[in-house]
Amino acid sequence: MKIAVFSTKPYDQEYFERYNEKSNFAFTYFETPLNHHTANLTSGYQAVCIFVNDKVDSNAIRILFKNGVRLIALRCAGYNNVDMEAAKEYGIKVVRVPAYSPEAVAEHAIALILTLNRKTHKAYNRIRESNFSLNKLIGFNLHGKTVGVIGTGKIGTAFCKISRGFGCKIIAFDKYESDEVINLGGEYKSLVDVFKESDIISLHCPLNPETKHMINEQSLSMMKNGIMIINTSRGALIDTADIIKGLANKKIGYLGIDVYEQEENLFFKDLSESIIEDDMILRLISFPNVLITSHQAYFTKEAMEEITHTTLENIRDFEKGEILKNEIA
Ligand code: NAI
Repeated sequence: MKIAVFSTKPYDQEYFERYNEKSNFAFTYFETPLNHHTANLTSGYQAVCIFVNDKVDSNAIRILFKNGVRLIALRCAGYNNVDMEAAKEYGIKVVRVPAYSPEAVAEHAIALILTLNRKTHKAYNRIRESNFSLNKLIGFNLHGKTVGVIGTGKIGTAFCKISRGFGCKIIAFDKYESDEVINLGGEYKSLVDVFKESDIISLHCPLNPETKHMINEQSLSMMKNGIMIINTSRGALIDTADIIKGLANKKIGYLGIDVYEQEENLFFKDLSESIIEDDMILRLISFPNVLITSHQAYFTKEAMEEITHTTLENIRDFEKGEILKNEIA
């Protein structure tokens, strides 16, 4: 079976080739993302394998179908970048990796919190220049702080467990309450109460029309002054222009983001010799209390293994005509 892999980085290829022996799929690795401009590359392939910043809209799906593609295998969990209605209309199956390592993402969210709070990134740079001063490195205890968790699925629950270990009080909002979170001592509240009562808010819900720009001028106005906001979920959960205003007027004390609404033009690329044309990311970088990582929360050895195994299995199931257990219906 011929599979076109888009947005490939050296590490994707390394992991796929390491575990492909059993299946012997014919992978072609494209560095370019899949979108309606590049969809023509899929002629002669039965499947495409894509990641978070490939854009599979209805135009791309029409071209994929014409070229003979019948399977879209996402090597990630979120699928907001695929037009599911169009995929259904053309009878193209869409599979994903529903959970590769919730702990990897939850631990990264905690890393953002600890770095922002205890300023270890600044201390590291200071000490390299023999500056042993503590001025302006003061942090706060996590113990006893109220952490608001929005979305208590697999990652949100893993995040709650770690936060409990720090002695934080957990309040949460989700459309469905999780017994596991309640057993951890977490308390479900309305979204408004989570906004109002939290010292730290961590976003772990998917991006959909309901959650898009949930962090905006209005929700920020309800929050405590100096709030810490962490987003390892999807960039568009945050209205970037509003959050810049919130940082400028000091409503937001700390912002840690692993995702960014306009990330597709920036993240996963070495742009160190380029002129960055995105003024919003430049403004965000300019704040001393903002920490940005480029969608690396998932990026652990354990998660890469799981992504590779599940993706190969998803494609094998499709090839054999078996039930697709990870199909997005
Ligand atoms: P999940 O499906 O296990 O949990 C999502 C939770 O969000 C569910 O409990 C669901 O009920 C809840 N939810 C849905 N709509 C909501 C709303 N309007 N308000 C509040 N909660 C709502 O998903 P999982 O595995 O925990 O992943 C969460 C998100 O993390 C994914 O959607 C993806 O966008 C992101 N992610 C980011 C990664 C990274 O590397 N930065 C890696 C993997 C996932």
